[in-house]
Amino acid sequence: MDIFTCGVVPVVVLHDAQNAVKVANALLKGGINTMEITFRTAVAKEAIQKVAQEVPEIIVGAGTVINVEQMQAAKVANAKFVVSPGIDEELLKEAKRLELPIIPGVVSPSEIILGLKYDIKVFKFFPAEAYGGLKTLKALCGPFPQIRFLPTGGISQSNAEEYFQNQKIAAVGGSWMVSTDMIAQGQYDLITEKSKDVVELFKRTRAQQCLEGK
Ligand code: 3PG
Repeated sequence: MDIFTCGVVPVVVLHDAQNAVKVANALLKGGINTMEITFRTAVAKEAIQKVAQEVPEIIVGAGTVINVEQMQAAKVANAKFVVSPGIDEELLKEAKRLELPIIPGVVSPSEIILGLKYDIKVFKFFPAEAYGGLKTLKALCGPFPQIRFLPTGGISQSNAEEYFQNQKIAAVGGSWMVSTDMIAQGQYDLITEKSKDVVELFKRTRAQQCLEGK
């Protein structure tokens, strides 16, 4: 089991750490085994810590990690991986030192070459839709057949299928199944329902590809 097994890595923004475990359980009930808690709010470290302790079935990671201090906080909180919207040599070095798997964000060949120096195998492609979506991704795959992508930004239930059809996509990232509004309104059943929908779509799409021998 890894963070790509379900086809989706939820990008979670929490304003209250008390909601972290409820969100984690709602995702889990929907068949998702991972979540990325973003450092966009001050409660990220505490929220990661709670999920790591109380919901061990979820592989919890830290998202929107943009400096070394956040990465160190993520490690202390027991995050199992970190995601950054960009790629930065200092972050790559620190991730290696802390033995923390990192998914850095890229949109260009030069950035991918930097990541390869640090043995990165899966790159976040962000912001995916704004940077040309699948068309750009396919073009980037040409010179780099050894890597896979986690496209994020502008992906939802309505366009996830086309991404799933591409074998270079490890999983998609996104917040549509766990929006801040849903969390604020305590709509945990809705989070579970939307999680189920995307996991089902992923499984169906990949099964179809197997049948077609792709
Ligand atoms: C991210 O940081 O990965 C994105 O903000 C998530 O994008 P989305 O909200 O468009 O899904």
